[in-house]
Amino acid sequence: EGRKAYYSICWLKKYHTEDRIMDKKNIDWANIGFGYVQTDKRFVSNFKDGKWDDGQLTDDATVVISECAGVLQYAQTCFEGMKAYTTEDGRVVVFRPDLNAKRMEDSAKRLEMPVFPQDRFVKAIEETVKANLAYVPPYGSGATLYIRPYMFGSSSVIGVKPAEEYQFRVFTTPVGPYFKGGAKPITIKVSDFDRAAPHGTGHIKAGLNYAMSLHAIVTAHAEGFDENMYLDAATRTKVEETGGANFIFVTKDNTVVTPKSNSILPSITRRSLMYVAEHYLGLKVEEREVYFDEVKDFAECGLCGTAAVISPVGKINDHGKEICFPSGMEEMGPITKKLYDTLTGIQMGRIEAPEGWIYEIK
Ligand code: PLP
Ligand code: COI
Repeated sequence: EGRKAYYSICWLKKYHTEDRIMDKKNIDWANIGFGYVQTDKRFVSNFKDGKWDDGQLTDDATVVISECAGVLQYAQTCFEGMKAYTTEDGRVVVFRPDLNAKRMEDSAKRLEMPVFPQDRFVKAIEETVKANLAYVPPYGSGATLYIRPYMFGSSSVIGVKPAEEYQFRVFTTPVGPYFKGGAKPITIKVSDFDRAAPHGTGHIKAGLNYAMSLHAIVTAHAEGFDENMYLDAATRTKVEETGGANFIFVTKDNTVVTPKSNSILPSITRRSLMYVAEHYLGLKVEEREVYFDEVKDFAECGLCGTAAVISPVGKINDHGKEICFPSGMEEMGPITKKLYDTLTGIQMGRIEAPEGWIYEIK
């Protein structure tokens, strides 16, 4: 009896997996970059008269709002980013969506927007991924399904004040590596622009933070750099983050160090990596202020985030003066590699995850 049950479970699992693979869209998964591909369904909920409606999935990928909408006039918008993965055994999972829900709540409050309830946020993610399963890249393809929840003031506002109506939406798009070249080390520059003010909005995921960074990133790209390192705006002596990721550094004696600041985004990837470093790899970890002056003494440097995963930094250009990390421009440093392998192993189901980190889409 036991054996029979075992075989029927195996068969079910196989059928389930093949079923999902067979339904996949015909996309060259291994060669997609980080761009927008329109998928079938997206989730929409509207906030009106002081409450959110039930929300629904829609085929309509466009948004129609007032010409005077709060988002268009005063940039009242925030967003989130996470990914769905196909695991080794064919399940589809999302990584720690509860933390994105919490962070979006923090963003909404800081921008005087209504909170989309955390449990409804996670349900909306689940519904949207489920409706776009055909776009979840297969295991081992190197691609993932990026999930973008966002919210904006949709009603008209002309005096400077919060909108009265809002829209919360979730769309998905299959993505490859954020930086061309995937795991190849990148070169960044120390930016002359500031990203966030000491008591500003750097700690939330407000669209305005990214608008601020556009001129800086276009400038950096034109000069041949992949990204910017922003320093703290008040003293310009401490490392903050890049336009779309937090920093991790590794000391010569293998301590993993990450900058502490009230004006950087509390990256879920970074928080997870620090846990992995300590509890899976047995490394010493430090979240503390990092002075730019000490960066030259680190052995490894990486950018971490949902989009970036862990992108190794080979070189930092400080106004013509170069800091070259010993790990070089060809490969990730050894600790960065271990962190990368462990984190992606957890996300793809090869390594057991800490309790609550993996949310299965059923
Ligand atoms: N910092 C910034 C400015 C970001 O845009 C992101 C991306 O979400 C991150 C850090 C990384 O955060 P997470 O790991 O939660 O994706
Ligand atoms: C993410 O990693 O989810 C982000 O939002 C970063 C963005 C620059 C793509």
